[in-house]
Amino acid sequence: MDLNFGVFGSGAVFNLCHGPALSNIKNVKIKSIFDVDKSRAKEAADKWKIDNVVSEHDDIINDDEIDAVIIATPNNLHHELTIKSANKKKHIFCEKPISINLQEANEMIDACNENKVQLQIGFNQRFWSQVQIVKRLLDMNFIGKIHSFRTIYSEKYSVFPAATPYRYILDQSGGATIIDLAIHRIDMIRYLLGEYKSLVAELKHSEIPAKVDDNVHILLNMESGAVGTIASDRYSPAIGDGTDLYGSEGAIHFNTETINPFHAVPLAVYTEKPLSEIPDFLKNNYYPDAWWKEFKGGWITVKPERTNPYQKELQGFCDNISSNKKVFVNGTDGLKALEVVFASYISKNERRWVDFPIPKNTPLNIPKYS
Ligand SMILES: NC(=O)c1ccc[n+]([C@@H]2O[C@H](COP(=O)([O-])OP(=O)(O)OC[C@H]3O[C@@H](n4cnc5c(N)ncnc54)[C@H](O)[C@@H]3O)[C@@H](O)[C@H]2O)c1
Repeated sequence: MDLNFGVFGSGAVFNLCHGPALSNIKNVKIKSIFDVDKSRAKEAADKWKIDNVVSEHDDIINDDEIDAVIIATPNNLHHELTIKSANKKKHIFCEKPISINLQEANEMIDACNENKVQLQIGFNQRFWSQVQIVKRLLDMNFIGKIHSFRTIYSEKYSVFPAATPYRYILDQSGGATIIDLAIHRIDMIRYLLGEYKSLVAELKHSEIPAKVDDNVHILLNMESGAVGTIASDRYSPAIGDGTDLYGSEGAIHFNTETINPFHAVPLAVYTEKPLSEIPDFLKNNYYPDAWWKEFKGGWITVKPERTNPYQKELQGFCDNISSNKKVFVNGTDGLKALEVVFASYISKNERRWVDFPIPKNTPLNIPKYS
């Protein structure tokens, strides 16, 4: 089936991720693009061979030839564009965070369900090959019961080539580091380890010009009994990327985009199982220091081919909406991640642990940073 797309927002994520990915997918065409900055939309249209630079949202929303939309605008617009597009029966690929308001996120999910269209959220990190391998290992209980985890995801505020400063304008973004960067790991940990039970968070402004959260630490209890931390910052020049899982029978260390001296390979698995109990997709990565030696336990490192997670997420989106299958990362996943952001704000504001679930009508109460 041919799919026609409409795009809202022609900034960094569209040009770096969605534009290239969609242009590699067969039978897909971007029919129209809208951006409040028309020259930016025009530039993107030239680059990605898009026929129409339209003058308002409704030119996309009311176009019956458009099957699906990409929402790549500042966060505060995700809700309105999703509701309007869903009501016109368009499938929706909405960038993260789903919204900056819990009630609105629920409305987005309901509107998509009522209109029988699909909503996928742009949590691309699930699509890295190493993350998929970790998921397979966890599903087979390979490292036993997971008792703890830690993950870090940091990127200096000035390095990402955003077209606008909306991330640091809190009524457009809903927060800086936690809702933009940490949220990827909030989703990834939930994908791998299950639902969150409670948390306590410290969010600080430490360094950057905008008075926003640039230093985030969340300590989380999982329903499974595991406990761990998510850390994220926007001030350090060193990009931080690494996740460690510790289980009763092994450990897993992995990264997504980048490696560094402390996480020097995309994936490493520690096990004391004999080779006969190690699945081929892991065992085949093991190189002994002499071929006749037997595996006596230790680290097995894996370097999967570096594939593009944005390509995979959008290929999956197109395949699933074309064949009427459920998308892989849906609105509920977006909502659950947003709940962690809101719970962290409550924790920071009230200096306490917060239990899930939190009420749907919890207001956005961004902490004040000095
Ligand atoms: N999944 C990821 O890895 C990832 C990476 C970056 C950004 N994002 C998400 O993508 C979204 C956009 O981020 P970005 O980095 O591209 O920002 P950006 O500032 O580079 O681009 C945003 C674009 O939206 C346009 N815009 C503003 N108001 C608009 C409106 N009313 N209608 C249409 N367009 C409008 C701006 O003019 C700009 O071109 C955010 O929600 C962000 O969280 C996701």
